[in-house]
This record gives sequence, structure tokens and C-alpha cells, in this order.
Amino acid sequence: MNPARTIVTLRPMTLEDCLQMGRWRADPRIAPTLRTPPKSEAEQAVFYDTVVLHPVDHQYWAVVASASDEVPRVIGMGGLTFRRRVPGEAELSLLLGPEYQGCGLGAAAVTALLDYAFGPGQLTAVVGEAYLEGGGAGFWEHLGRHQGWSLVRFGHSLFFRIERPPR
Ligand SMILES: CC(C)(COP(=O)(O)OP(=O)(O)OC[C@H]1O[C@@H](n2cnc3c(N)ncnc32)[C@H](O)[C@@H]1OP(=O)(O)O)[C@@H](O)C(=O)NCCC(=O)NCCS
Repeated sequence: MNPARTIVTLRPMTLEDCLQMGRWRADPRIAPTLRTPPKSEAEQAVFYDTVVLHPVDHQYWAVVASASDEVPRVIGMGGLTFRRRVPGEAELSLLLGPEYQGCGLGAAAVTALLDYAFGPGQLTAVVGEAYLEGGGAGFWEHLGRHQGWSLVRFGHSLFFRIERPPR
């Protein structure tokens, strides 16, 4: 998959997408980076029914990569979560399948999530937290420095905050 010729979009998750996310979450290359433990297949199906299909507080999408010469593929899961914690704000969540990491698709997925958040989602700020040790913090710090986000290291985590760009 050539990232230069690939468009990354979001679409509603199916149960099969959600079960695939469960398998990726349990992968030893991913599990240590996450702030919640892996779920069994049955627990993942309950998560689909109770959370994904009822996006009151947490909203999740399948992240899809479409290249002109290939069939579109689900490459991960993105979310805007904890929407009820502070009105107008949500927390960014992103996980790509191990085989899709490291070639620019994560950055494109963040762009798609922020386009939704500050467009149809009508949010005023998006926040996030990543573990400094093996938790993808380097990715968020790298993007944040380039895009002017607020970045704070505290304890074992990197916290970031992205304000809605002026219209
Ligand atoms: C974190 C994650 C979303 C990043 O996606 P990715 O596709 O691997 O990242 P990209 O290839 O889009 O990288 C974008 C840029 O960030 C940089 N980058 C990526 N990981 C980095 C790291 N650990 N440290 C420093 N820079 C990093 C890349 O070099 C690239 O820089 P460039 O634009 O100057 O070329 C992905 O690796 C992932 O899903 N990991 C497992 C789950 C996880 O950690 N989720 C976050 C939990 S909070």
C-alpha cells in the first residue's frame, strides 16, 4: 500500500471490524501500548453492542485506506471518546493494525478524525494521552510539534490538546 496514493477515511464499524480490532488489541506488539486490557471475543462483541452501536459517550469508526490500484482495506480503529466529560471536547483514540504502521497512515487517520471532530462533530478541542514508554507517545509528540498542539509530559504519560482551528 503506497501511502502517497492512499486516501484514509472513516466509516461506521461492523461487528467483524470490531472483532478484528480485538485481535489487534491483543497482539503483543500493540497490547503494551494500550491503557485498557485486551478483551475476549465475547467481550469485544458486547463492547460492539453496548458502546459502538450507542455512541453517546464514545464514538468509534473503522479507519479505511483506499489506494487507486487496490481494494479498500480496514487498517485500524479511531475514536472520539469521553465526550460527556467536558462539553465540546473529546479524547482521541487510534490503533492501526501492526502491518499498517510506520508508513504515514496513522498521521492521515489523525487528520480524518480531526476533520470530523472540528467539522460535523462540532467539537472545540480534542485531547489525548499516550504512555511515554512504548505507547506511541513519540508519534503524538512528533505530530503535535509540527501542528502546534499543546504538549505536556507528566508522570508516565504525554498529554496533548488540540484546539479547533480558527474558521
Ligand atoms: C501510534 C500509531 C497510531 C502511529 O501510526 P503510524 O502509521 O505508525 O505513524 P505514521 O507512519 O503515520 O507516522 C507519522 C509521523 O510520526 C513519526 N513517528 C511515528 N512513530 C513515532 C515515534 N514512536 N517516535 C517519533 N516519531 C514517530 C513518523 O516518523 C512520521 O514522521 P514524518 O511525518 O516526519 O515522516 C500506530 O503506530 C499504532 O496504532 N500503534 C499501536 C497503538 C498505539 O500506540 N496507539 C496510541 C495509543 S495512545
